[in-house]
Amino acid sequence: MLDVSRHFFPVADIKRLLDRLAALKMNRFHWHLIDDQGWRLEIPGYPRFTEVGAWRTLPDGSRYGGFYTVADVAEIVAYAAARNIVVVPEVELPGHSMAGLASYPELSCSGKPEAVATKWGILDGVYCASSEPAARILEAVLKEVCRMFPGPWIHIGGDEVVRTRWESCPRCLEKIRSEGLNGVEGLEAAFFRRFLAFVQSQGKTPLGWNELFEHSIPKNIPVQWWHRPDLAVKTLKTGNPLLVSDVAYCYFDYPYVETDPWYIKSFMLLTPVEKVYANPVVPPGCEALAEGIWGGECCLWTEQVPPSEIDNRLRGRLEAFSEVYWTFDKRPGWPDFRSRL
Ligand code: ACM
Ligand code: ZN
Repeated sequence: MLDVSRHFFPVADIKRLLDRLAALKMNRFHWHLIDDQGWRLEIPGYPRFTEVGAWRTLPDGSRYGGFYTVADVAEIVAYAAARNIVVVPEVELPGHSMAGLASYPELSCSGKPEAVATKWGILDGVYCASSEPAARILEAVLKEVCRMFPGPWIHIGGDEVVRTRWESCPRCLEKIRSEGLNGVEGLEAAFFRRFLAFVQSQGKTPLGWNELFEHSIPKNIPVQWWHRPDLAVKTLKTGNPLLVSDVAYCYFDYPYVETDPWYIKSFMLLTPVEKVYANPVVPPGCEALAEGIWGGECCLWTEQVPPSEIDNRLRGRLEAFSEVYWTFDKRPGWPDFRSRL
């Protein structure tokens, strides 16, 4: 996974990354196209997503951003396909949505104008979970995305939803009351049910981050597990496929060692190559359920990663990751891998 919202990566950089993936027999490219700090995908019929949502104003007043056109997407998808890589686009719902809200304020609970985010972190921006006009815009976006990407999977995000805006939205509160939902948590579950079903109605398989599994989710919806072993166990017990992206082993934005210039002590883990290679693959408590594990995915979040830094973050880690998932319990071992690397 590459996050192209926090930093924008030109098409040439994406192609170079796809070349690296192909060289290591990695066969999926999860493209995190939308987040608080930028909407990076042209949506025919909805020009404000890229006129407004693709740009943020930096403290010095300059604009930062960019986006991929429909033609760029076709080029990337074809380039990937020629290398046996399927592109999995992510349309993050309903949180991490400040760029979408800035583009179309009617997507929010209040309808008030907002700006594309410039701060990092978990922000309170969230699509209104009870507005029909908002839902129809989001369905139109998903419909275009299903058309643009020929692969079978569409990722709908679902992580780190902050529900406070729903708690003070009269429309959301009325929906909770009239439909007898279990508070804002039940409202979130209803929101996911609607959009999971919508993606399925377009002939695609939706997937999402493990927070989806705080709710009861239909069978066969794959879940991308990044934290909370309880949710990995729950996913596998109900027979849903689990894609493992354990934050402790698979997040390659983290520094290798404390002396790396991008180390931020307050929250960052360290991920040396040896640790990537030691990934147990099976989440804690899932030993008896490991048959349900679908595969693994490493994630490159880019708050601290401009295009010039990609190679620094992947060096050694991508090679280790590929070997871990292609060999699992037949891993030749760290000393052997290290000498080959
Ligand atoms: C995530 O790291 N928020 C999926
Ligand atoms: Zn609302």
